[in-house]
Amino acid sequence: MSNIEQTLSIIKPDAVERNLSENIKNIFTKNDLKIKENKKIHITKDEAAEFYKVHQSKPFYNDLCAYLSSGPIIVMILEGENAVLVNRKLMGATNPLDAEENTIRKLYGISIDKNSVHGSDSIDNAKKEIEFFFKN
Ligand code: CMP
Repeated sequence: MSNIEQTLSIIKPDAVERNLSENIKNIFTKNDLKIKENKKIHITKDEAAEFYKVHQSKPFYNDLCAYLSSGPIIVMILEGENAVLVNRKLMGATNPLDAEENTIRKLYGISIDKNSVHGSDSIDNAKKEIEFFFKN
């Protein structure tokens, strides 16, 4: 039975700055994830704080929000079979040092902060994150 899902992907400032966006988009499309929506934006620190509020109790929260708002990002809606899980597999582990070979974070990530991409971690969060960037 088919299970078409949508998930949110962000190409973070470190990857946009190094002109890696096309390489990253190609990884998605070659793996059967369609890019349904795509926009380049530069968010404020307050917007980043709202987006990442699930992490507000973490010691890295302030730096994380400062970083996501430090330069342009590309936000996308990806769609495909099991899109949430497929996207997370393509991204690899949060810390590029732990990421599997040929994942986006292994190929392009610089550090746990500058890890090139964000992707929704569940269907529920995908809905919320898509709403955050595309429905207001
Ligand atoms: P992301 O998938 O965007 O979700 C939250 C981000 O916090 C994560 O990627 C990392 O870039 C960043 N981060 C920084 N420090 C940590 C940490 N110790 N554990 C998890 N995420 C971290």
